[in-house]
Amino acid sequence: MSEQKPLVKVTIDNITIDVAPGTTILNAARTIGGDVTPPAMCYYSKLEGSGGKCRTCLVEVAAGSTADPRPMPKLVASCRTTVMDGMVVKNCTSERVKDARNGVVEFLLMNHPLDCPICDQAGECHLQDLGYQHGKEGTRFEFARRTFEKIDIGPYIQLHMTRCILCYRCTYVADQLTPKRVHGILQRGDHAEISTYIARAIDNDFSGNMIDVCPVGALTDKTFRFKNRVWFTKPVDAHRDCTTPGCCGKTTLWLRGEEVYRVTSRKDEWGEVQSFDGKPGWICNSCRFDHKKATDWVIEGPTVISRHSVISQGHYVGMVKPAETIEKVMDGRTPKLLMDIHSVSEVNTKQEVK
Ligand code: SF4
Ligand code: FES
Repeated sequence: MSEQKPLVKVTIDNITIDVAPGTTILNAARTIGGDVTPPAMCYYSKLEGSGGKCRTCLVEVAAGSTADPRPMPKLVASCRTTVMDGMVVKNCTSERVKDARNGVVEFLLMNHPLDCPICDQAGECHLQDLGYQHGKEGTRFEFARRTFEKIDIGPYIQLHMTRCILCYRCTYVADQLTPKRVHGILQRGDHAEISTYIARAIDNDFSGNMIDVCPVGALTDKTFRFKNRVWFTKPVDAHRDCTTPGCCGKTTLWLRGEEVYRVTSRKDEWGEVQSFDGKPGWICNSCRFDHKKATDWVIEGPTVISRHSVISQGHYVGMVKPAETIEKVMDGRTPKLLMDIHSVSEVNTKQEVK
């Protein structure tokens, strides 16, 4: 039997925990959860090599280790820095971190269009959340924003390059999940962009997972585009016996009434694909794009959504409607002037509010 290495002690925002050696500060903070966990726009625990690109996860190391308790002079990327025994880290308790994160968000939003009202990612966009938490009311950027030639990357995925924050997650999906990567980040600096080689379409069985890992609305589902806002849909967990090798067949269906508007992989509390039997639950394009009928699926029940998410706002589980009082206050008479506009306008007739 291999000898187990002793755990190391790390204190993050005054909470001390023991973690395995080699754990990153970010993953140690995730075991605590809540505000102690730094945001991560490029790190994705199921994608090897991800992280170190966006700097949203910066933290302050107030003491390096028990052996060398000097503070680290600069803020460090928590997704790439491993813990040392006796390390003391500050995230939400550090003014330096808050200030730096505000700056990082300002940089990310420098070129990102503020088109949330028409963006399909609105409601589940990590940059939108960060913008609310750390964004400034105005912009100091006076120059023209980047623009790109529009390119078509295939029948299923819509690329909006102006929204891309160059996190590289989609390239890791292509490298690690598909047999051949046909897209990448071309050019340098301000000109860097996601592109396919000679505008080749991305068409392989697992390409749809790029949509799920994209933290912003740069890669969206063409079959769901402009069809609905996510907070009007009702997410349910479902599965089917999928025969595509590597597909877990476990998904979230986004319903409105009986209609399946979108199929995605199941996400965990960090917005990453959930693991099943120790493996990431990636899904194939057949499950995602070809099975859009509720009868294709065995529905397990409502998806657990954080109550802070805008997606949970429209679903009032266990709601008890107040009793109708109009007749009572009118001494038993039924009003003549009230119209049920829904019977004629069909507004909201499709949505079931639960
Ligand atoms: S398209 Fe999305 S996933 Fe790919 S690099 Fe840009 S932001 Fe990241
Ligand atoms: S999440 Fe650490 S640098 Fe992006």
